[in-house]
Amino acid sequence: MAEREVKNIMVIGAVGQIGSELTMALREKYGNDNVVAVGRKTKPSDELRDSGPFEFANCNDKESIENLVKKYDIDTIHHLAAILSGTGEANPELAWKVNMDGLKNVLDIARDYKLARLIVPSSIAVFGPGTPLQNTPQQTILRPNTIYGVTKVAGELLCDYYFEKWGVDVRGMRFPGLISYKTPPGGGTTDYAVAIYYEAVKTGKYECFVEERTTLPMMYMPDAINCHIDLQNADGSKLRYRNAYNVTGFSFDVKTLADSIRKVIPEFEVTYKPDFRQKIADSWPDSIDDTAAKEDWGWTPEYSLDGMTEDMIKNLRIMHEKGEI
Ligand code: SER
Repeated sequence: MAEREVKNIMVIGAVGQIGSELTMALREKYGNDNVVAVGRKTKPSDELRDSGPFEFANCNDKESIENLVKKYDIDTIHHLAAILSGTGEANPELAWKVNMDGLKNVLDIARDYKLARLIVPSSIAVFGPGTPLQNTPQQTILRPNTIYGVTKVAGELLCDYYFEKWGVDVRGMRFPGLISYKTPPGGGTTDYAVAIYYEAVKTGKYECFVEERTTLPMMYMPDAINCHIDLQNADGSKLRYRNAYNVTGFSFDVKTLADSIRKVIPEFEVTYKPDFRQKIADSWPDSIDDTAAKEDWGWTPEYSLDGMTEDMIKNLRIMHEKGEI
């Protein structure tokens, strides 16, 4: 079956860490008016609000999303609204409601309005105790012990079900920790790898909530944005997997990350005070095998750790000088 063209896109969760940058990248590629940014309640940046359509809606209120799909004749959705791992442990009910009920609403809409494409990110949180930690394979044990991970595994299965049963063209990637300077993440375990840069620039020191030895896979946001757009446009007939593909940029422990920052800010100091997120971090892989994504749709991350560090610090310094952080 020939794939339908992507023309009118909606980004749900557009004010979040990924959404704020993905929306702008999609607007550049598809035209400002053809990319609708949807937030729940957080005030959008001026850039996001003024460069194209912006609407408030909630994935737990199906009608509010449905009305926008009709209003803008949407054919493609990037569904990013989710409660992350840290917040999920504090409020499992909410994590289930947003990550499962909200996802099901969007899947139903994709089926009923015959969308051309639906992109739903998954996460390394689908892995857990029992999963091989090094070079974690595409096909492996998925027995997470966080509510976030449980919803991500169930979400992957639900997406595959809609693809198999109703032909919904839904695709996903298992993102590692995502590092960016434009919009901070909220409530995730991998957030330390973002906060460390902010604090390095603002104060020259950082108290880290996981131990120095903690190693996790990560990715710089420009690569994550390319990942979204490339997977959206991949030839569906070549996709051996749907939900979801392993992807990664690089892996490092906190010491290696701090050393990379010290190449630019030599006096930078890190202290360690692990909290409940240590256990979550320890249950996730150290590194990821993303061969399947490379083979099936040409996934190729560009940034190295030091390349990311230089770009992060350069941009955060500009924001700090302007008083924005
Ligand atoms: N970055 C997420 C988190 O830490 C994982 O997908 O919760």
